[in-house]
Order: sequence, then C-alpha cells, then structure tokens
Amino acid sequence: MSGRPASVELVVVADADALAEEAARRVLSSAAAALAARGTFALALAGGSTPRAAYAHLATAETDWSRWHVFFGDERVVAPDHPDSNERMARAAWLARVPIPAAHVHRVRTELGAEAAAADYESELRRTLHAAPGTVPVLDLVLLGLGPDGHTASLFPGSAATRERERLAAAVHDAPKPPPERVTLTFPVLAAARALLVLVSGRDKAPALAGALAQDDPPQELVARDLRRAHGRLVWLADRAALGR
Ligand code: 6PG
Repeated sequence: MSGRPASVELVVVADADALAEEAARRVLSSAAAALAARGTFALALAGGSTPRAAYAHLATAETDWSRWHVFFGDERVVAPDHPDSNERMARAAWLARVPIPAAHVHRVRTELGAEAAAADYESELRRTLHAAPGTVPVLDLVLLGLGPDGHTASLFPGSAATRERERLAAAVHDAPKPPPERVTLTFPVLAAARALLVLVSGRDKAPALAGALAQDDPPQELVARDLRRAHGRLVWLADRAALGR
C-alpha cells in the first residue's frame, strides 16, 4: 500500500471507561460531519471486547439513525446468536436499542460459509456505497481493535487475507485467535476510508501498540503498522495501560 495518511494521531485517555466515552464521542462527531456533508454516514465496526462499552454509549445518542449504514470490519463465522458473534455483541450493546433501519445493518452472512460470505459482503459494500467494479468503496469511519500480535480486524500476521489487494472482503480459515473461520475487510478498504479509529485498551496491548507507532520497523510482521499507509485520517485511541503507563 503506498501513500501517506491524511494525518496520524495518538490520543491517550486515562482508562477503559474514558476510552469508551471518547470513542463514542468521536463516532458521533464523524457521523455529524458525514451527515452534514453527504446526508449519510457509513461506519464499519470493530469486533472483540474493547468496543462494547463504546457501543453501549452510542445506544443513548441523539442522531438521525435512519441515515446510518453499519458494516462489520470483521466477523467470526458463527451463527448470529453465537456468543462469539461480533454482530450479536454490537446488537446487544447498541444496534437493537436504536431505530436504525434493519436494512442499514449490513451483517456478514456467516451462514454462507467464509468464502461465499466474503464474496457476498464485497457485493453488499459495492451496492450500498455505490462503488463500480474496479473502484474501492469509501467508508466514512472504520473502527478497529488491536491484538497482542499486532493484528487488526481479522488481518493476522502472514495470512493471505492480510496480503489481499484486490478483493474488498476476504475469508480467513486459520485465525490464530479463535474462532479460526472469519471474514474480514481487506487493506484496500481500510486504506480508502475517510478515517480510521483504532481502540486500544490494556497492558497486554502495549508491545503491539509501541511497535505500531515506532519509527523503525520492528523485526516481526506487525499488521496494524500498515495502517500508517492508509489515505484517511488515522487515530490511535489508547488508554494509559496500553501505553504501558
Ligand atoms: C475480532 C476483532 C479483533 C479484535 C482484536 C482485539 O473479531 O476478534 O475484530 O481484531 O479487535 O483481537 O480484541 P479485544 O478487543 O477483545 O482485545
């Protein structure tokens, strides 16, 4: 991926609660800007445990939900009511508690299996964001997490999905973080987004965050480091523990 991001920023907050509040505030301000500029707001969600509290804050927000489109940055290939489902987590914390049109929650159809679900998700992105073949759809904001091994979304070190430069969504069959079967947005989509907000909480993330922010390349592949080459605004939102403080 070539090019430089519009800007890179590290924002440090006291703890996980402050991170959730700040993340929700930033999502809402991005939404307000997108709605004012384009009449719609297209957001991709982070999975895992870190964003859940921020989603709970969004459940009480005042906004025109009818103009939001919500995608998933990655999904585990499990049933939508399975405890490992990112969709389930986001619905329970937020989406099921606000009047967002059902058709505007663009779930990953995991029931199709990883490969077919990834292809289906690419079509869904293109259709919803009006991206012609050969072009990359532009999301307004992508929320991401960070794994201790430096993965983000379900782009794990050494995986084919991480190297993917053509398709918008890819299947993952051997994720080192369970469950192994996943669907993830690929780097071209992350790179094209207007803004990326990476949520990082906890001491166990400190080495990966330090590596992602370091000037020099660390010895091992650190996938999240490649976010520096995204075209949009890149914000790392971390709590003090994630900075090792
Ligand atoms: C997933 C995620 C993944 C996550 C990181 C951090 O579905 O597992 O999208 O990329 O963001 O692994 O996970 P935690 O927030 O649970 O630490």
